[in-house]
Amino acid sequence: MRIESPRYTERFGSVRINDVQQVLELDSGRAKELLPHENIAVQKIDEDILKSFEEKMAIVIPIKDEKLKLFEGVVSGVPHDCLIIVVSNSQKKGIDRFRMERDTLNQYCHFTRREAMIFHQKDPALAQSLLESGYTDLLGEDELIGDGKAEGMVAAMLMAMLAKKEYVGFVDADNYFPGAVWEYVRCFASGFSMAKSSYAMVRILWRYKPKISVGMYFRKWGRVSEITNRCMNSLISSKTGFETEIIKTGNAGEHAMSLKLAEILPYASSYAVEPQELVSIFEGFGGVLPMAHPNAAKDGVEIFQIETRNPHLHEEKGGQHLEGMLLPGLGAIYHSPLCEVETKQMILGELRQQGIIKPRERPPKPHVSAPLRKMNLKKFSKAMEEYMESYSALREER
Ligand code: GDD
Ligand code: MG
Repeated sequence: MRIESPRYTERFGSVRINDVQQVLELDSGRAKELLPHENIAVQKIDEDILKSFEEKMAIVIPIKDEKLKLFEGVVSGVPHDCLIIVVSNSQKKGIDRFRMERDTLNQYCHFTRREAMIFHQKDPALAQSLLESGYTDLLGEDELIGDGKAEGMVAAMLMAMLAKKEYVGFVDADNYFPGAVWEYVRCFASGFSMAKSSYAMVRILWRYKPKISVGMYFRKWGRVSEITNRCMNSLISSKTGFETEIIKTGNAGEHAMSLKLAEILPYASSYAVEPQELVSIFEGFGGVLPMAHPNAAKDGVEIFQIETRNPHLHEEKGGQHLEGMLLPGLGAIYHSPLCEVETKQMILGELRQQGIIKPRERPPKPHVSAPLRKMNLKKFSKAMEEYMESYSALREER
């Protein structure tokens, strides 16, 4: 793969935010010696290097009642060496959609001989193991893991930790193009190969997010991301004193982290999760508030934003859904202790203009769960031991 070198980096305390890097070649050919200067403006990342990162990576696919064909396509796009972790919150009563997903995955893994895990977010054994290890932040009143993609993501991160992976990436189950999924994962691997710190995050920016109207229109920015990015940049500008447009991936659902970073971040529920990751990084390592973790502060936290070649096309869930995404994300920024009056006004102005909140209303504060390193992983691992086999897609064949 050939990808632009990070040409511009904005610094915020110990956080290094790299500007968008474009993919130049999806495939850069056989490994050979580079000509002098070949790797200055552009990085050539050899297949072997990509594979060495993919081997250490778990790819999490959160799913809730998506079309099976889309799900199967997504699975087929994940490079073979990654461990696939599917976390489902699909219906089980009546038509058992979870079972259908499990059967699809099992069959797929049988023929491709690849490793994957699938579990239901509401699995009582999982909730019980969390209880036993003293980590109750994900649990609802019914003592099961709560609804939401974010809750599923956190549970899946725990599985990645148990599987001793070093990186974890997230890819939605409703992507139409397996080729785009394949590219996302290669971008994750490329980003990690360029990282100087072991506390790194890679966020995907789509070159286009087409809309189907009359014909197809290759739109670049979604409404939600445009607003979230503007507010996030305002928050950074107010602290550094320099206006910036550096953040272009505030809502990126497709993103990845080193587990070292993943386990020290707190996570917001619902669609606040991706913006909150950035907010938490700025709070924890921006140098304005006390540093959240000494080693990460020393190494620095590195953020890559990589723009893919493939356009992004996923299931359209309508206008109501957009509101449901904008509000929690802006709530995460609004309620940060870093957020000053000007950014707060900007957020309220946007939400009022969209008719999402009334005058005098405030965005709700997202529920934030404690970093995973606060839990007793040994206890959790012990409690989960007897169930892990039942999560494996190749289990019947062992
Ligand atoms: N496990 C689980 N549990 N998965 C869920 C749940 C849940 O409660 N709710 C939704 N999902 C799955 C969906 O099936 C899909 O695969 C993925 O999570 C994303 O959900 P969507 O409902 O399709 O979200 P979106 O397309 O509007 O927004 C996506 O893109 C945004 C911008 O990049 C999400 O990834 C957002 O988180 C992201 O900010
Ligand atoms: Mg979607």
